Amino acid sequence: MVVSIMLWLKEKQKNNPFLKFGTKKPIALSMKIFAETEHLILREIVPTDTGDMYRLDSDPLVHKYLGNNPIKCMGKARAYVDYIRMQYEKYGIGRWAAIEKSTGDWIGWTGLKMNFEEEMNGRINYYDIGYRFMPQYWGKGYATESSIAARDYFFTHFPGNTLCGLADVAHGASCRVLEKIGLEAKNDFHYFKENVMVRWFEMENK
Ligand SMILES: CC(C)(COP(=O)(O)OP(=O)(O)OC[C@H]1O[C@@H](n2cnc3c(N)ncnc32)[C@H](O)[C@@H]1OP(=O)(O)O)[C@@H](O)C(=O)NCCC(=O)NCCS
Repeated sequence: MVVSIMLWLKEKQKNNPFLKFGTKKPIALSMKIFAETEHLILREIVPTDTGDMYRLDSDPLVHKYLGNNPIKCMGKARAYVDYIRMQYEKYGIGRWAAIEKSTGDWIGWTGLKMNFEEEMNGRINYYDIGYRFMPQYWGKGYATESSIAARDYFFTHFPGNTLCGLADVAHGASCRVLEKIGLEAKNDFHYFKENVMVRWFEMENK
């Protein structure tokens, strides 16, 4: 009985015109999908992602190279979701939710943002590429795969601009991803706020 109800629900979900990609957590058609890669759907971040954002940003392992200051309340996660949505409105870009196709899991975020608020390496108002995933999804090539999609999106939509990326020099995996997607390491600088050396990467979109 239970099995037949589950099968019926699955079938119903498959034919629901308001849902896309009938995985465990279907994607509502109202959500904007920015890109699709072999293993991931890269969609807009929405307020209902706040719980997942909290799980991601409250994990000390995730924050090891992000200043070691994981968040402790849901309000901070919601503020970050709102900040990302403001970026969509104002700049036409913003970090994307990464959804693993095979499971429908929300695995973290990836993509672009305009850094207008904090000077880094003497630069402000620049396009930044970044990524942040839950640890169980590390080492599967997802940062590289999703960043290639974000880089290509940047190439299509922002000609004549420079794409920048940065990572703690001790963060081998992050530096490697930036290199793999074609950014060039330019210089290292001291990031006073976290007292670490950070590597600055760039790529021109000529
Ligand atoms: C950084 C992060 C996004 C990497 O994600 P990922 O999906 O595991 O990355 P990928 O699998 O696409 O690629 C990682 C690459 O780094 C390499 N790598 C992993 N650890 C490394 C290390 N300590 N030193 C050097 N290279 C390393 C991998 O071998 C791989 O390169 P390869 O394909 O040439 O073998 C992930 O660890 C993460 O979300 N960390 C927490 C948040 C964070 O630190 N974000 C970046 C802030 S700058």
